[in-house]
Amino acid sequence: MTENVTPERLSQVHEQALSDFSSIDSLESLQVFTAKVVGKKSSLGSWFKELKALDVEAKKELGPKLQQFKTYWEQACVAKQNELEAAALNQKLKSDFIDVTQSYPAQKGALHPLSQVQRHIETIFTGMGFEIADGPEVETEWHNFDALNVPANHPARDMQDTFFVSSAHEDSHQNSVLRTQTSNIQIRKMLEKGAPVRIIAPGRVYRNEDVDATHDAMFYQVEGLVVDKDISVSHLKGTLETMLSAVFSKPMKIRIRPGYFPFVEPGLEVDIWWEYTDKNGEEKGRWLEFCGAGMVHPNVLRNSGVDPEEFSGFAFGFGLTRLVMMKYGIEDIRLLSSNKREFLQQF
Ligand code: DAH
Repeated sequence: MTENVTPERLSQVHEQALSDFSSIDSLESLQVFTAKVVGKKSSLGSWFKELKALDVEAKKELGPKLQQFKTYWEQACVAKQNELEAAALNQKLKSDFIDVTQSYPAQKGALHPLSQVQRHIETIFTGMGFEIADGPEVETEWHNFDALNVPANHPARDMQDTFFVSSAHEDSHQNSVLRTQTSNIQIRKMLEKGAPVRIIAPGRVYRNEDVDATHDAMFYQVEGLVVDKDISVSHLKGTLETMLSAVFSKPMKIRIRPGYFPFVEPGLEVDIWWEYTDKNGEEKGRWLEFCGAGMVHPNVLRNSGVDPEEFSGFAFGFGLTRLVMMKYGIEDIRLLSSNKREFLQQF
């Protein structure tokens, strides 16, 4: 219930409003105040209605006062609202402040462990006078198999589960395959440059494997080929020992035993003496298979236009992926292609 409007009543309400106004400290309390003092349901609203019923004299006296009261408080409320909104904005700017000029430590990228070891190996071999060679991953059956002394229907083709590519290779009438080995580069390099030749060829190879911790359908190999006069197995042994000792930063021992690969005669298996500390902290060692190698088969030299009467050579092919896993103690091959940062940041 509102009391009737009188000049005294009006100034009383004005005084009260001044006092209430000074304690307003939020937009919410301002809203309550505004509704109470100048809102539709405020005393002011009913006073204007009352005014109409008053006589002319009273109207003359009270009318301007009411209007003055109304204007005063409407302006005061708008001003207060602006002030409170500005304060709120300032507060927000302070708490949300982002210094765009501040520099944050950037996430550093790094070479993949495979690339690191590959580059190291390339440095080691170029230091020994080798050239780095490269070639196609989609290869003719001829370069991948036939020229390497593995004719069609030869059981040796089954040693490597092959992915066939349906269209014929651009420069032959033959089927194409995803190369199963980097040995194709032996043929390509000798056909291109003849002998003598001294190359390594790092690269991807593909096999139709069931993927598990130690098998992937794509992995990296490094092929090596030296063809010259009077090349022997001892050159092969010295070359591999030199490379392995550099990769592992300590003298590495290898052993050579007979093995079978159609493109070499004799074919050899190279094992590496692997020292490790077992679960009980004991120093142990054992022979690990490292790579296939041998003296280049005369048929391979012939297929590549090199005279086997004049030249001989050695070749080897090892798994770069496996070497990286050995060097860093990586137990699951899939990690290498996982793109997991927690994994990659360790190298
Ligand atoms: N290409 C063979 C493989 O992938 C490895 C290999 C064996 C390469 C003997 C050679 C070699 O150059 O002489 O299993």
